Amino acid sequence: ALERTLSIIKPDAVAKNVIGEIYTRFEKNGLKVVASKMKQLSKQEAEGFYAVHRERPFFNALVEFMISGPVMIQVLEGEGAVLKNRDLMGATNPKDAAPGTIRADFADSIDANAVHGSDSLENAAIEVAYFFPATDVYAR
Ligand code: CMP
Repeated sequence: ALERTLSIIKPDAVAKNVIGEIYTRFEKNGLKVVASKMKQLSKQEAEGFYAVHRERPFFNALVEFMISGPVMIQVLEGEGAVLKNRDLMGATNPKDAAPGTIRADFADSIDANAVHGSDSLENAAIEVAYFFPATDVYAR
């Protein structure tokens, strides 16, 4: 089915100047960018976005990392977009990420792991709405 998913290019990948290379992977694999913005997240925004991880031991480090520089946030649309984006990203820990995936090629550690992608269709809807009003998402 045609789906939408939320993608974030994290501060490490923005600093490496690989936004375009990552967008190219989306586009070459049938995912369209239907909303996009660069943003310096506030601590409150990062904590709210990752609220499901609040009790995890890595929560504070995750939030500090996500506010360490601007991120590129986009909504991707395509057939099976949620799983397709996760396949393109590879495993959360770049040490486990399959060759040719975004994390294998651009990530340095489980914290600085280049990209975020929604893990389910349900969370995708929540995460898209967290960053984009419906009028800023362009069906195409
Ligand atoms: P992300 O998909 O953005 O969702 C939560 C993030 O927490 C994850 O990517 C990782 O960058 C980070 N993280 C750090 N340590 C862990 C861990 N042990 N398990 C899962 N995620 C972790």
